Amino acid sequence: MSDHGTCSGADCDNEAGTLQCPTCLKLGIKGSYFCAQDCFKRNWTTHKAVHKIQNASGVYDPFPTYPFTGSVRPVYPLSPRRPVPKTIKHPDWAVTGIPKREMRLSRSKWDLLDAKGQDAMRKVCRLAREVLDITAAAIRPGVTTDYLDEICHNACVERESYPSPLNYNHFPKSVCTSPNEVVCHGIPDHRVLLDGDILNLDVSLYHGGYHADLNETYYVGDKKDPESIRLVETTREALDMAIAIIKPGVPIREFGKIIEKHAASRGLAVIKTWGGHGINSEFHPPPWIPHYAKNKAVGTCKPGMTFTIEPILTLGTNRDMTWPDDWTNATVDGKRSAQFEHTMLVTETGVEVLTARLENSPGGPIPIPETENGDTNGKAKK
Ligand code: MF3
Ligand code: CO
Repeated sequence: MSDHGTCSGADCDNEAGTLQCPTCLKLGIKGSYFCAQDCFKRNWTTHKAVHKIQNASGVYDPFPTYPFTGSVRPVYPLSPRRPVPKTIKHPDWAVTGIPKREMRLSRSKWDLLDAKGQDAMRKVCRLAREVLDITAAAIRPGVTTDYLDEICHNACVERESYPSPLNYNHFPKSVCTSPNEVVCHGIPDHRVLLDGDILNLDVSLYHGGYHADLNETYYVGDKKDPESIRLVETTREALDMAIAIIKPGVPIREFGKIIEKHAASRGLAVIKTWGGHGINSEFHPPPWIPHYAKNKAVGTCKPGMTFTIEPILTLGTNRDMTWPDDWTNATVDGKRSAQFEHTMLVTETGVEVLTARLENSPGGPIPIPETENGDTNGKAKK
């Protein structure tokens, strides 16, 4: 079977071959595969309209034939790669795009940090919180996600920090920006934020040899629909409820039970594809931390462990799919999703939320409006 789906010829149902439209290739438009040269020629007059999709400001959808599930589209070209001064310590993927050390880690060896390591984590997590807050403060209708990337990138560099996502497995930008139905790992581009959007900012920093990782979902502008509020606030609460049980001895598998129970009580689904993770001198070391109930994660919390919890909840299906950019994940039904993430340290008696909000952090909880039935679960009673 061909990897390229059906032939792009409008009058053709054949399987596509390896022949790609050369004009599309030049424009960076992906997915224009034809079954044969004569089919390509025959369909040229209709096909060439695809090349005009670039609008007056020179931006374009690189995947014009992809069946997007919601209304968010990639808006290319991506801006050029933002440089990080050589004086700032880079992780190994900065040059190669490949997180070599992370790939070699044994899945069963969990790092426990001594006092010095813990202090280094406190430092980088505090810096990451500052960077998230500075970036989030710039969210408003009319700005692009690439503009937010610029702000985030500069705030990292000002703090002698490398933005961990940059070139991680070849990720092209310094922050993940995930609007509406985008579940996670959205790439900052020229899409303009709209009043009523929700937007997740996922910030990670590398400083002093340690990584920090946190994200929050924000409301764009003043328009807030009740469904989005139920989604965003329930996700925020689910993370807080999971954090509340952390102390030495608590099984890793318990977090998912709490998160899914709270999601279900509000008629929301939990994405299973993505999970929390250890974080320290490595970006994604073990353990893997599922956010769903009845998971089989082994192990318990131990003093000195640093890890993230980062649940993603949705208004519809819990199934997600990846765009042809190989990064952006979106819900299969196009309904909205929200995510929150903290980096935590397990202490002798409980937990320290290393990326905790500051007094003046933008965003933060708002009340969930009651439905007509006087509840907040979003399920209308017949
Ligand atoms: N911050 C994400 C996480 O929670 C990872 C982003 S890596 C990137 O693990 F390459 F997608 F940016
Ligand atoms: Co993370």
